[in-house]
Amino acid sequence: MPIDCTTRISRRVANLQPSPIRRFFGLVESMPDAISLSIGEPDFVTPWRVRETGIFSIEKGHTHYTSNLGLLELRREIAKYLQQRCGVDYNPETEILVTVGVSEALDLVMRTLLNGGDRVLIPQPSYVAYPATVELAGGVPVPVGTCAADAFQLTAEALDHAARESGAQTVLLGYPNNPTGAILPPERLASLAAVAEARDLLVIADEIYLELTYGRTPASFVAQPGMRDRTILLNGFSKAFAMTGWRLGYIAAPAELIAAMNKVHSYTAICAPMMAQKAAIEALQRGADDVELMRAEYDQRRRVLLKRFAAIGLPCFEPEGAFYAFPSIAHTGLTSVEFAERLLMEHRVAVVPGNAFGASGEGYIRCCYATALPLIEEAMTRMRNFLDTL
Ligand SMILES: Cc1ncc(COP(=O)(O)O)c(C=O)c1O
Repeated sequence: MPIDCTTRISRRVANLQPSPIRRFFGLVESMPDAISLSIGEPDFVTPWRVRETGIFSIEKGHTHYTSNLGLLELRREIAKYLQQRCGVDYNPETEILVTVGVSEALDLVMRTLLNGGDRVLIPQPSYVAYPATVELAGGVPVPVGTCAADAFQLTAEALDHAARESGAQTVLLGYPNNPTGAILPPERLASLAAVAEARDLLVIADEIYLELTYGRTPASFVAQPGMRDRTILLNGFSKAFAMTGWRLGYIAAPAELIAAMNKVHSYTAICAPMMAQKAAIEALQRGADDVELMRAEYDQRRRVLLKRFAAIGLPCFEPEGAFYAFPSIAHTGLTSVEFAERLLMEHRVAVVPGNAFGASGEGYIRCCYATALPLIEEAMTRMRNFLDTL
């Protein structure tokens, strides 16, 4: 009798929902005339100096494993960056772990922290991998809704209430936020830090978009007094340096936690790719001007997009970080999935339905503006035509 492989898949994985973003991406790929505002990936290629360093490192034969924690030279550069950008000291020998993107970092954090059934508070709308990595580690994601009226910022009251009700010991803060573009201003950071202290919460801060902000420059959560030692800071190279394909990120945290996460990392990834680590050293040492050029370009596109949303009557909260806009489509009477599907099928523009980011994202769509300006302009014209048909 042939084996029925589907019965051998663990319940945990069988129950996991495939990422809706990928589904839309798949559809777009089969439509050559579609414009995609769906994938959260820079349209820029990695800056040449960084690519050249990667190529050179391969030429020199840097094709081996590195230490599990990552090249010490890279960890020193990361510590220097964190000191300069966040004003916080980390010991590169014991408090920094280089990972295969922030994606691996999230997985390591969850598997290291969670026992079966442990709860993790996740402000939503949120990045799609947050609840998934919690579930895969046997934990229970607890969504905490945020809304446009609060600029999609988690409030201290909501955090306090959710921590009390759920008994969760961990909260995951993803700011600047994917999908809303929200940032946390100083007073909000301070009030959330006070709740973290009072409720003895461990904080996971995913700050992968920290370099991509427009107008205000937010502080890192770890810069809040007392927070460095109760925070696991995640960051990486994918977004700011346009290095998604290099698969490189890092974790900065107290030494005991880094040692525990390194145990998991050493049995699963062993280390991040050596040539990517070499290239990342160059990115940190000499890539700041390239980041600024890309950031300025995103800002220009952001302004155009907001202007066009206003012109076609889609109310949109002003995003201050990352490269996403999250307009409301509630007044159309369509669900976010209906809106996104019809926009793609009838007018060849791909956006992500807001409910992919949690229930509080219903009534919105995510539009990524890491896309060339002429394409954004054309996508907006098509969106206006679609709205005219409703
Ligand atoms: C908020 C957030 N965190 C983490 C990631 C994953 O990044 P990486 O490419 O470093 O794995 C993404 C990618 O979209 C993201 O938006």
